[in-house]
Amino acid sequence: MQKYYVQLGNTPELSIQELNSILGQKKVVRVASHICLVKLNDDESAINLIDTLGGSVKIIKEIAKLKNSSPEKIVELVSNYLLQKEDKKIHFGFSEYGRDHLPKIDYFQIKSKIERGGKSARFVEGSRLGLSAALLIHKKRIVEIYIVQTADGVFMGETLASQNIDLWTLKDRGKPYFDKKKGMLPPKVAKMMLNLALGDNPPIEGRKNILLDPFVGTGTVLIEALLGKIDVIGSDIDPLSVQGTKENLEWLKTKFKITNDSKIMMFDATKIPIQNSEIQYIVTEPFLGKPRPNPSKLTLIFKGLLKMYLGAFKHWTNFLADGASVVIVFPLVSFKNKNGKVIEYNLDKLIDKLTSLGYTTLSKPVLYHRPNAVVQRQIYRFRFNK
Ligand SMILES: C[S@@+](CC[C@H](N)C(=O)[O-])C[C@H]1O[C@@H](n2cnc3c(N)ncnc32)[C@H](O)[C@@H]1O
Repeated sequence: MQKYYVQLGNTPELSIQELNSILGQKKVVRVASHICLVKLNDDESAINLIDTLGGSVKIIKEIAKLKNSSPEKIVELVSNYLLQKEDKKIHFGFSEYGRDHLPKIDYFQIKSKIERGGKSARFVEGSRLGLSAALLIHKKRIVEIYIVQTADGVFMGETLASQNIDLWTLKDRGKPYFDKKKGMLPPKVAKMMLNLALGDNPPIEGRKNILLDPFVGTGTVLIEALLGKIDVIGSDIDPLSVQGTKENLEWLKTKFKITNDSKIMMFDATKIPIQNSEIQYIVTEPFLGKPRPNPSKLTLIFKGLLKMYLGAFKHWTNFLADGASVVIVFPLVSFKNKNGKVIEYNLDKLIDKLTSLGYTTLSKPVLYHRPNAVVQRQIYRFRFNK
């Protein structure tokens, strides 16, 4: 087994839940706020892993544990390592993680040492946390070295693979139908939610493994599921969303080889006419209210949302399979009133009611929100048992 460091995305709690779902809890050790240590068979498994994840940015392969981590030793170790590379000119990035309390290592000394060793060198500047995934996937010649400091010591690593940022941008902005007013789910979040659902209830060969998104919007969840080889059903109350999702799935088929079935319907989420217990997964972001709600109306808005969510969860018991998983966004609005007191609106009251319907929460909800968003998203995981 080889050690790899996974650099987590902007919502590390969610990224860790996703990693645990894919690899199993025992294999993932958080070593810093945005870094987890995982042990994998080989580089190929590590490269495949990053393509499977929505919430991780990079995989860094551990090269050495540093017995002596003085700046001079780090400069020597890194330059000697880079000098072994085949290229005559070394393009390198150098990043430090977990070392904010220490003076920065002077990359110029690394560059000079490489040059004294007989090769030319170019330093590629990035933030202290590392080069962007976009740069790394476009400039393949760049070698990125990390010095990672954890409670277990100081390690040198090399970036092995980064998330395919072009693919994420295509899925985010390339779709023919989108509706920003509706609050579309970022594809990476849809992927993380899908992975959580699949981790909680792994697909079984020979069983129907259908995923339903009853608030399909533009089809973001369905796109990730179809790319993950899962059959899907999408439904929405709005005819424009139904038509738009159909267009998006047609577009998907022109870009990727999709072999799984998809069906799009127009129904209220509390009235979808599915008969048999054939739905193994619901992954969805329901209507969350207006993105900038009037604070004086929040009590009423959340009352309405509670009613809609409860109605939907009740209805879904008609067709969810025993052991099915539900990964769903709940809205949360919190703000300070005139007296500086934090007022929070959420759907916490729902949880007890859901327990009596057969839904068990599988972990604490994770908060996901964009900067400045008024309505934040809480991501909940449930198992349904009849
Ligand atoms: C936040 S959007 C979902 C966006 C979707 N996740 C995406 O990325 O495109 C919520 C969707 O729920 C739909 N909706 C609202 N009330 C509904 C209801 N009672 N039944 C079904 N769909 C509903 C809206 O038309 C909207 O498309």
